[in-house]
Amino acid sequence: MSESAVEWPTVGLTLRVDGHEYPVPRVWIGDSLLAVLRERLDLDEPRDGCAVGECGACLVAVDGIPAASCLLPAVAAVERDVRTPRDPAFDIARAAVTEAGASPCGFCAPALAIAITGLLRRNPDPGPAAVREAMAGIVCRCSESDRWIEAVALAAEAEAEAGVAIQHEYAEDSDTGPQPDYPEYPDYSDQAGDAP
Ligand code: FES
Ligand code: FES
Repeated sequence: MSESAVEWPTVGLTLRVDGHEYPVPRVWIGDSLLAVLRERLDLDEPRDGCAVGECGACLVAVDGIPAASCLLPAVAAVERDVRTPRDPAFDIARAAVTEAGASPCGFCAPALAIAITGLLRRNPDPGPAAVREAMAGIVCRCSESDRWIEAVALAAEAEAEAGVAIQHEYAEDSDTGPQPDYPEYPDYSDQAGDAP
């Protein structure tokens, strides 16, 4: 069989993104959530930086937990609550990033908003070390951690004023919070080239 004749396994998915259900036909089982969000749903965020898990630009929240969408297969996001940086849940953090001047070029602002919100869900009053740890996976060429610490403080203050609830179960876990309980990979071996 020539290479051009190879049929890659695909499957039809329904993703829940920012509170809306999106049916997505014929998704290759190796496609990342980042690729599906940007190329199939035509969303401009999350950002696509490196696509290999090194820059942190592609953060989304999956079941409330920050996750690099370039490393997460789209099939693993089925029946999960996916929130992109455009979701209103991150408005407070985005405003704080802007006010603190924490993302001068704006490229990593969406990821910062996801990371800040995730941090504050499990720790409403993080110190500088906790902020640096939470942001460690975001590679930024134009800002500095002092600005990020200020952004977190501004976001924490605004969330407290707005009465945003803290998810205390996160605080009871490790310093970095719980990891998503990703489902087992389904067996797609009989669905080669046969998406619904
Ligand atoms: S685009 Fe995902 S970590 Fe760089
Ligand atoms: S603000 Fe420019 S890459 Fe972060």
